[in-house]
Amino acid sequence: MRKKIVAGNWKMNKNLQDGVELAKTVNRQVEDNNVIVILCTPFIHLSEVSNVITKDNLFLGAQNCASEASGAFTGEVSVDMIGSTGAEYVIIGHSERRSYYNEDDATLNKKVKLALSADLTPIFCCGEVLAEREAGKHMKVVKDQIDKGLFDLSPDNFSKVVIAYEPVWAIGTGVTATSGQAQEMHKAIREMIAEKYGNQVAEGISILYGGSCKPSNAAELFANPDVDGGLIGGASLSAADFMGIVNAF
Ligand code: PGA
Repeated sequence: MRKKIVAGNWKMNKNLQDGVELAKTVNRQVEDNNVIVILCTPFIHLSEVSNVITKDNLFLGAQNCASEASGAFTGEVSVDMIGSTGAEYVIIGHSERRSYYNEDDATLNKKVKLALSADLTPIFCCGEVLAEREAGKHMKVVKDQIDKGLFDLSPDNFSKVVIAYEPVWAIGTGVTATSGQAQEMHKAIREMIAEKYGNQVAEGISILYGGSCKPSNAAELFANPDVDGGLIGGASLSAADFMGIVNAF
């Protein structure tokens, strides 16, 4: 059975005190079941939020990591530093990193490998922009991102990765991909993985949907056979909305 995962991506929201409060509320409300819940907080929150977590199925993640292991890289945060806070996940290749900070496939591939070397689970994001979907290129764009970002990993390492499909036109816009659009892409991603790594690996990879996921549409999205959970932005900033999504499983 694949892992069911709901990860909250707080992005650049919540100061430390507000973040710790939100984490406490989520920690209190997370039920002891088979849904893995992850809080991806700003770097400076990680260590304190780590101390708040008491539930076995609640985990901590970062939203990014440096593309180098250590050294003279002012302002960067390494995978080792992230792991030392108690975090076990790291989002890599979010569309905001790709577009605002020019992170290309080669850089993201380096980050994925560094994360794995530090025993962090990469949540690798992919997704097309609206113009690419309208031009009918969305499948190719997403396949290219996965191919260049992940497909030189060994089967063993690849099996540790979580993939998040996030159509860029759905992120923070209130426009959600239809259940059919999500399933179509997730199935294509799984088929692509099966071709490269075999059925067994493909069946074990959790593929999350992200982009305006909310309590009102989560259940329908998660009901798809190839949608194994969600990466949640805006709705993860409210414990009620976030838990509404977690409980949609
Ligand atoms: P959203 O963001 O839920 O606010 O659309 C999702 C994401 O960027 O991960």
